[in-house]
Amino acid sequence: MDKRQTYYITTPIYYPSGHMHIGHTYTTVAADVMTRFKRLTGYQAYFLTGTDEHGQKIERRAQEAGMAPQQFVDGIVAETKKLWALMNIEYDDFIRTTQPRHQRAVQQIFRQLYEQGDIYKGTYEGQYCTQCEAFWTSSQFKEGTLCPDCGRQTEMVKEESYFFRMSKYQDWLIRYIEEHPDFIQPPSRANEMLNNFLRPGLQDLSVSRTTFKWGVPVDFDPDHVVYVWIDALSNYISALGYGTEDDSLYRTFWPADVHLVGKEIVRFHCIYWPIMLKALGLPLPRQVFAHGWLLFDNDKMSKSKGNVVYPGPVVRRLGADALRYYLMREMQFGADGNYTNEAMLQRVNADLANDLGNLLSRTVAMVEKYFEGTLRQPGDYQEEDRQLIRQLEALPALVEKEMNSLQFSQALADIWKAISACNRYIDLTQPWVLGRDEADKGRLATVLYVLWESLRFIAVLISPVMPATPERMYRQLGIQDEQLKTWASLARFGSGPAGLKVSKGEAVFPRIDIKAELPLLERENEAELALGQPAKDISQAEAAPAEDPEITIQDFQKLRLRTALVLACEKVEKSDKLLKFRLKVGEEERTVLSGIANHYQPEELVGKTLVLLANLAPRKIRGVESQGMLLCAAEEDDSQLRLLTVDAPVRDGVDIS
Ligand code: MSP
Repeated sequence: MDKRQTYYITTPIYYPSGHMHIGHTYTTVAADVMTRFKRLTGYQAYFLTGTDEHGQKIERRAQEAGMAPQQFVDGIVAETKKLWALMNIEYDDFIRTTQPRHQRAVQQIFRQLYEQGDIYKGTYEGQYCTQCEAFWTSSQFKEGTLCPDCGRQTEMVKEESYFFRMSKYQDWLIRYIEEHPDFIQPPSRANEMLNNFLRPGLQDLSVSRTTFKWGVPVDFDPDHVVYVWIDALSNYISALGYGTEDDSLYRTFWPADVHLVGKEIVRFHCIYWPIMLKALGLPLPRQVFAHGWLLFDNDKMSKSKGNVVYPGPVVRRLGADALRYYLMREMQFGADGNYTNEAMLQRVNADLANDLGNLLSRTVAMVEKYFEGTLRQPGDYQEEDRQLIRQLEALPALVEKEMNSLQFSQALADIWKAISACNRYIDLTQPWVLGRDEADKGRLATVLYVLWESLRFIAVLISPVMPATPERMYRQLGIQDEQLKTWASLARFGSGPAGLKVSKGEAVFPRIDIKAELPLLERENEAELALGQPAKDISQAEAAPAEDPEITIQDFQKLRLRTALVLACEKVEKSDKLLKFRLKVGEEERTVLSGIANHYQPEELVGKTLVLLANLAPRKIRGVESQGMLLCAAEEDDSQLRLLTVDAPVRDGVDIS
């Protein structure tokens, strides 16, 4: 096993009762950002997410949809995985509670707790909220028998049940929370647990149900299924192979460094879960971090209220990086915050198009204009240079500290302070004035070097939050050396070597016309809400004659389609589907991956002229950057897939219009 320090982070496993919206996306993006950050700073990180597929709520939803529960959740899980891929979320494992590996672990845990006397059999009589899958006692109600969490009417339940002796562990847990101030974050949540639940006294918890079947059966008493929260919480160790012969992941990564949870499920993670682990004799997670809710018009998003925002439309129109940035930047992690498309678009324009985008394009344009695109050796630094350099050199440690306390928005705010400082530095040093006089060329070289190197720092620092943007920046900055993209390379300002060639490219974040964009986003979101389904289905809906399927010629002109000559083509190692192309597109060469290995032999493609979507944002697939997309005619199920080509010989690099 790897000797590096380890880091294990989890998201809640989501109920696949409906399609994931921007609230679920928020938690999952945060976990992905942390994982990428830890890897960047040298850790061996492991990121677990998944779905919580059992329980009465799911069983009822499936019934309403006229489907078997497994069939119902399979569909949603497939969409969820596509959504995470769209968001550029790279988890290490996706656990589903219906998987045998998980069910076996749950049965084993339940049996052990029963055999050692922590679980006993009795009869439960009381109120149950199916939406929250939670039991409530009369002293916990605030209004009638409405669920104190979600406000819905609870149901009376009377059935034989197994109980967990929670009360036995109450004093231990109070002391543990008091003695471990970092265990529950932010601290207000720890106080809530102590004052609202633990100090008033814990009741024994009903941990099995007999009136429905959709759950993990208690193996020694199959009329019972395990209570869905006992089932769900176990995922954090079942996914690591706990209790199996191959438990190397468990031994490497448990206890978790942090469980990310929404504030509404702190109680389950900070009372039930620690008690379960204590009873099993296992170490507790180092931290449970409760983040706030994304609100929509000050209200929690919910499908029944019709105020749900789906990430698909935003990502398809603006790219995953823009949404990831906004989610991590806008709200302090731990507090609630409103989500509106308008605020998101404003921020994307201000921070990404203006501050970052302009800094990059101005710098690259000036290196091209004054030094034929070559980065020059800097001369002696002056005070104005040193001030900016000091700010950048201090940034990695500051960002690391903030990221390690999950203060994403603060870390980004500090990076953007440096971006603003760079823009001010341009105003101050006025390179366009220096460029007028040959005698100032040395000074100009220094100023442009400082800006170039600052942009390199910024690209590395933003990479966990915006994984696709740095590569686009590196291309313009002329950086190919992987060493210059590492955290270690930020130890010293000035690692970038003179002599590199910059090259102007597309704006990394083109300015958005907010007025025109807003209605489009809203329309797409409504279509998604109506269908409860992502992209593909919306385009089908829009193609229906009742809808307006037209686009303008300007829309079409956004696509840069060009002919591309195949210089070389080979299979990608360890992939059944991917072919890697080396293409000649006029003056330039590009690498492009395409999922067509089942339909072509690589050799037959060399020498063909194909159609390339040339201005698609580059994307890393299996460690290789794909710089565009080859167009294919494809049957919906991919049974037939043919590459597009032109019907008579044409030069490569020619525009297709
Ligand atoms: N299945 C349980 C969790 C079991 S973990 C062992 C569950 N699932 S859920 O589908 O309801 O997802 C809850 C999680 O989704 C929240 O804790 C939070 O992480 C995220 N969010 C759902 N809506 C949200 C917002 N509107 N805003 C922010 N996060 C939200 O509870």
